[in-house]
Amino acid sequence: MISLKASSNWLVSVALIATLLINLLVQLLHAGPRIRAEAGSNLRLTREFVLKSIANIPETDNPVPPLQSLFANLGDLRHVEIKILGAKDPTPGHWSQLNHDRYHDLPEWFVKVAGAAPRVILIPLVRGTHDYGRVAIVSNPLDELEEIWSDMTWLASISVVATLMILIVVIFLIRFALSPFNALQAGLAELEAGRSGVKIPVRGASEFRNISNALNSLAATLDRVKNENKRLVSELIEVQDNERKEIGRDLHDEAGPCLFSIRAAVTALQDSVSQGVLDRDRVAHLSSIIDRSSTTLQLLFRGLLDRLRPKGLTELGLEPALRSLFATWELSHPEVALRLALPHDLSSLDKNTAFTAYRIVQEGVTNIFRHANADWGQVKLNFALGDVGAKETDADQDSEPRLEICIEDNGAGISDKPKMGMGLLGMRERVYALGGMFEVTKRSAGGTLVRALIPLVEDDEEE
Ligand SMILES: Nc1ncnc2c1ncn2[C@@H]1O[C@H](COP(=O)(O)OP(=O)(O)OP(=O)(O)O)[C@@H](O)[C@H]1O
Ligand SMILES: [Mg+2]
Repeated sequence: MISLKASSNWLVSVALIATLLINLLVQLLHAGPRIRAEAGSNLRLTREFVLKSIANIPETDNPVPPLQSLFANLGDLRHVEIKILGAKDPTPGHWSQLNHDRYHDLPEWFVKVAGAAPRVILIPLVRGTHDYGRVAIVSNPLDELEEIWSDMTWLASISVVATLMILIVVIFLIRFALSPFNALQAGLAELEAGRSGVKIPVRGASEFRNISNALNSLAATLDRVKNENKRLVSELIEVQDNERKEIGRDLHDEAGPCLFSIRAAVTALQDSVSQGVLDRDRVAHLSSIIDRSSTTLQLLFRGLLDRLRPKGLTELGLEPALRSLFATWELSHPEVALRLALPHDLSSLDKNTAFTAYRIVQEGVTNIFRHANADWGQVKLNFALGDVGAKETDADQDSEPRLEICIEDNGAGISDKPKMGMGLLGMRERVYALGGMFEVTKRSAGGTLVRALIPLVEDDEEE
């Protein structure tokens, strides 16, 4: 593919050469009419002059000698030639027959294209019955042709020199004007290679400056997104690590004592059987210990499994998964009256949003159990328009549909500057990753309100 520089240079050269050729062609085409017009008027004038000269010679005299000396005194005339022909001399057909030497200075093609047709006027020299011959006036376009030819050669040589000079200037101008392209190319190559801190120099024409500015802000945005990604990945690793630690702690702190109780009860049962002291009350007491411990274990495992993989979220959808989670919590935390409000059908939510919503509810309610010391809690998921962070005049933001998640309790309320643990951080990062808004505030009626707004994704956007 030909470069922009080369094509601009070619274009300018072709335009200049075409202008020169058109100029020459116009001159050539005008040469014929110009010569004919010139010849016509000169022939008429010369004819008048010759007729007058003949009339001035007395009728009885031989007109040839005085005319010859008159014409010789005239010297070389421009555009016409005057010859005195004898009575038997042939009529000259063309001026070139009169002046061969000068004719050969001009290129033949030029003479042919210019088209200098012969024009001859014959004036008879008859006195009484005596025929002295004729005066032949022949149009001679040689001077005119020479003039035109010299104009054309001059024009051609000046134009060639001017064209070359213009071309050199244009080549330099184009090279200078397009030089920011190299910087843009280098900057784009650096961006493509994934380098950080790319800065393209802003110079050249306003179009280049605009593109450079746009690319620089694109590079800055890419850097910001890259850093944000790095931070998110490291936070994600930390969250996963903490989750593993927590699962290990739960297994150790909760499963360990339960298993110990079961094992102790079974050993006691075995001892009683071997000693033959097995009575009804003892069996009932020991089996109730085993029953309670296994129920606690069951709840613990269900909770752990839910944390590792939300039950039925993918298969059944968000609403059934949340209802199952709440059913588990009602059993494990009967001290808190939990309410789940789902006024809208959530089945249309995309996978990411549903998963994020599930995790936020899970973490938010776990925080209520852990920190709030509340006896009432409510979780509400509904579709809403707008963003609390958006300005009132921002019509676009206001009309954007979002999923609103509110988790509230009537507990102690969160402190003004809470120490962010992995729970709140994880919730916030998940919401931000989906382009949403997240806030934790104190309720005016006491307790804490966790609120998240997640923009809804169209089906084709998700794909
Ligand atoms: N509903 C709530 N009521 C009162 N305080 C809360 C509530 N939710 C969170 N907090 C406060 O905010 C702090 C941070 O919560 P966060 O969930 O981030 O961490 P965490 O629960 O302490 O630990 P983890 O990383 O295991 O979740 C808590 O330590 C607690 O003091
Ligand atoms: Mg927490």
